[in-house]
This record gives sequence, C-alpha cells and structure tokens, in this order.
Amino acid sequence: MSGTESRVVSNALHASILVIDDEEVMREILEALLSREGHRVRLASSAEEGLELARTLPFDAAIVDVMLPGMDGITALEELKKTNDELPVIMITAFASVENAIVAMKRGAFDYITKPFKNDEVVVVVRNALERSRLVQENRSLRQSVQEQYQSFANIIGRSPKMKQVFDLIIQAAPSRSTILIEGESGTGKELVARAIHTNSPRADRNFVTVNSGNLPPDLLESTLFGHVKGAFTGAIYPKKGLFDLADKGSIFFDEMGNIPLETQAKLLRAMQEREFMRLGGMETIKVDARIIAATNVDLRKMVEDGRFREDLYYRLHVITIHLPPLRERKSDIPLLTQHFLAKYGEENAKGELELAAEALDLLMDYDWPGNVRELENVIERAVVLSSGSRIGPDLIPNDVRRAPVFQLPDVAVPPEGISFKEVITDFEKRLIESTLEAAGGVQKRAAELLHIKPTTLNEMIKRYDIRPRRRKPGTDGDTAPASPPRRPPPSSDEVVADVVSSRYRGMLDDE
Ligand SMILES: Nc1ncnc2c1ncn2[C@@H]1O[C@H](COP(=O)(O)OP(=O)(O)OP(=O)(O)O)[C@@H](O)[C@H]1O
Ligand SMILES: [Mg+2]
Repeated sequence: MSGTESRVVSNALHASILVIDDEEVMREILEALLSREGHRVRLASSAEEGLELARTLPFDAAIVDVMLPGMDGITALEELKKTNDELPVIMITAFASVENAIVAMKRGAFDYITKPFKNDEVVVVVRNALERSRLVQENRSLRQSVQEQYQSFANIIGRSPKMKQVFDLIIQAAPSRSTILIEGESGTGKELVARAIHTNSPRADRNFVTVNSGNLPPDLLESTLFGHVKGAFTGAIYPKKGLFDLADKGSIFFDEMGNIPLETQAKLLRAMQEREFMRLGGMETIKVDARIIAATNVDLRKMVEDGRFREDLYYRLHVITIHLPPLRERKSDIPLLTQHFLAKYGEENAKGELELAAEALDLLMDYDWPGNVRELENVIERAVVLSSGSRIGPDLIPNDVRRAPVFQLPDVAVPPEGISFKEVITDFEKRLIESTLEAAGGVQKRAAELLHIKPTTLNEMIKRYDIRPRRRKPGTDGDTAPASPPRRPPPSSDEVVADVVSSRYRGMLDDE
C-alpha cells in the first residue's frame, strides 16, 4: 500500500456513517463491512427514520437505498442534503434501474452502487466519499483562516482586492532573504507592511531596525548606519556601532530610500551585495547579515534618470516590489478602516462603543484622501476626541474632507444593440438636475451655482423636463451640506442613466 493510500485510510477511520435500507439483510451486510473498516454505523429501515437520525447526529457519509417504502430514496437524498449539503450520499440501486442512479447523481448523490455489489466496491466508494468530505472540510477551514487574515493581516486592515494582493505578496516574500522595495504614497502603510514582512519571516525574533534617513548629512547618516571608529571625525571620542550591527540576523528598514545621498548609496550597495561594510573612518570589513526592506514615496526610476539615484542600487532594490495603492483606489476599505480606528481611539479615550452616522461615512467615501490612511486615521481620532455622544455625525468631519469631489463621468457599458445617445443625455441631464436640486435643498439659485449655469437656464430645463422638487431627506441640513455635485443618487438599477450617475460610487468599488 502506498503512502497516499495509507493516509487516506487512516483519515477515513472512525467516520460516522448512516445506512438507510429497508432490507434487514442489506443493513446487516453493510454494517459488518463498514464496522470492519473501523467506522461507526447507524442503521435506519426507512427514509423517515434515517432523516430523524441525520437531524440529530453528525454523519460523514450516508448510504441510501433508492427503493424504500414510504419516502423514496431520491427524496431522502434531497432531504439529507438539506441537513448538510456537503454530506456525501451513496445510493444503492437495483442493477436493472440505472435510470434511478442517474437521477440520483443529478440530485447531488456522491456515487451509486448497483445491487448485487462486491464488498470491495462498497469499501472503495465509501473511502472516496470520506476523502472528499475531508478535503471539503479542509478547504473550508483554510478559506476561513485566509479570510480572517484578509480582514486584517498583521495589523494591516483591508479587504479590497488590491490589499489582498498585497497580503499575498507579503506572505510569499516574507520567508526569503530577498530585498524588498515598498512603493506607495505617504500614509499608505509602508512601514506597517515592512513590519509585517519582518514578523512573518524567520528573522522575527531578531531586531527590526528602522532608518529614518530624514535630512541627515551624509557623514552622520553613514556613522548612524555603519558606526564609526574613534577619531573618525571631530567629536568621535568613542568608537560606535551602527544600525547595521543592530540589524544583524534581523531586518533593516529604510523608510525613505529616496533620501539616501549618493555617497551613502555606494556603501549601502556594498553592504547589500557583499554583506559587509566598514565603519566610518575604519579599515576593517565587518560581516553582516541583514535583510533589507526599503520604502519610497518617490519615483526612484525618475531619480535614476536625473542622476540622483544609482542605477545599480535601483536594480538591487527591485528584487521584489510591493506597491501599496493609494486609499482613493481602494475606497471599499474605508468603512473597515474607519471601524478599526473608531474602536482604537474610542478605547484610548474611554468613549465606549462609537457609531458613525451614515452621512459622515458618505463624506469619508467621497473624499480623495491625499494623505491616505494616515489622514483618515487622524480625522477619526479627532472626531472621537471631539465627540460628546456615542454617535459621530457629519459635523465632526473637518471642512477640508467635505471638499467637493471631482466629478468623473464613469464608463458606460453600451449594450450590443446600442443605445440612443439623445435619450441617454436627456435622461442624464434630468437626473443631474434632480440630484443637484436635492443637494441644494431645493433652492434653484444654489443648484444653478452648483452646476455653473444661469438660474434662468436651470429654470427652463426644470420646466422642460417637468422636474418637481423632491423633499429633502430628513436630517440633511441643506445649509451645511457640502457644496458638491450630486451625492448618492437615487437607486434605480434598471435605467442606463441612473447607472451613469450611480456608478460614480460603484466605480470606486469595482475598479479594484
Ligand atoms: N491598512 C492599514 N490598516 C491600519 N492602519 C494603517 C493601514 N495603513 C496605514 N495605517 C496607519 O496609518 C499610519 C501611516 O502608516 P505608515 O507609517 O505605515 O505609512 P507610510 O506609507 O510609511 O507613510 P510615509 O510615507 O509618510 O512614511 C500609521 O499610523 C498606520 O498604522
Ligand atoms: Mg513611513
């Protein structure tokens, strides 16, 4: 017996199997066969009795005779599937009625055995069924743990497809020693990712050393990185170790690679390539084994072209690149991030459970977040600190977040049969006016301002399209509402034009 086979058998041992057959002899044969294989067997002489058992006990597989008095076997199969749709059900049919077997397979039976059967046949089919059961279960628990990871992986919150890709890359790249470059705008979470790589690597129990290269002059930066010998420069009274020493067997994180001056870049390249360095003012080479993780919010390629970044270092760094998308490209993460920060700062400020008003979330979703997650975090922290009740309303969202978003006409899917240009435009015009009027609290003069048209033009269109003022949503304060183009449009999925407006929202979730 091969290794695989023995694994299957041992896993299939002690399964719990339900047998439904009205013939006593058959029940006895099956019970003997399956018990011999090490399984626990429960017998039922009718579908009703079997179902009763299935509703109270967990089974790993069931064997059901098609021909049963009372409820027939096919119906029993369907009912069993209702108690557990992953339960493998093996049907027993008379040799003469293969049609029944086909029907059963169509209704979701795992397999069928025809009477008279050979003992081995039953054993093999049951084994297969149990193996499948085990795989399904394994897969489910794997999926669950992956999903849990994906809600938040090593403190990185996000479940947008773009963040899932980032998590995948971290998981793949972390175990190696390879240099990693993390690209992304300021505040996108580059440092979080760098730490996640370290903590998921075999170096996790060693140091994670951050180099804030800031605006250090080259000499000072070099001595910080590599240490110096006594007398290396005026004031160097004692020899000193550097950050590379600290990072030995661990990871060293350059939080802004673009800030490293050219002189230091050469030494860094050597440390990366040869895994050795010299102290400032020193002659001795020192071996070091530090994994390099670098982040940048500038385009290093461009710096190479401008002669401000060494090309060889650039290529050394680009072994594995993780791109962190700006928050505006993964807006579907905003609600989850907001929840996370509300909980974090709610607890920190002893505010208990806080709730974000829908209007406030609308504002957060509408904004472009140039400062990315850091900016969102700050906005939520401020709101939590300033809040008096348990509900965070739109009034607690700062004015610059209420800035009118740039209106982008989304992509329109043209059906194969085409659409009427005129109708679409007319309908769009009409809806745009309706939504703007709503945003302007029904005040035509204000709506005209918002649309950058003359009030008389707006008035003409209102008459032409026979637009009636819609009542404002309760609780929407027309005066403090941000001066923005239409907010969330009315839901009406069946109309192309409604789609044009609403896909502004959908688009931001879909493009990922
Ligand atoms: N996905 C995320 N989940 C939770 N918190 C996040 C996430 N992304 C960023 N943050 C938080 O936002 C703040 C900024 O993150 P971080 O310092 O990692 O950004 P950065 O990309 O390194 O920015 P910079 O380029 O300005 O250094 C931190 O407080 C961090 O905890
Ligand atoms: Mg940073």
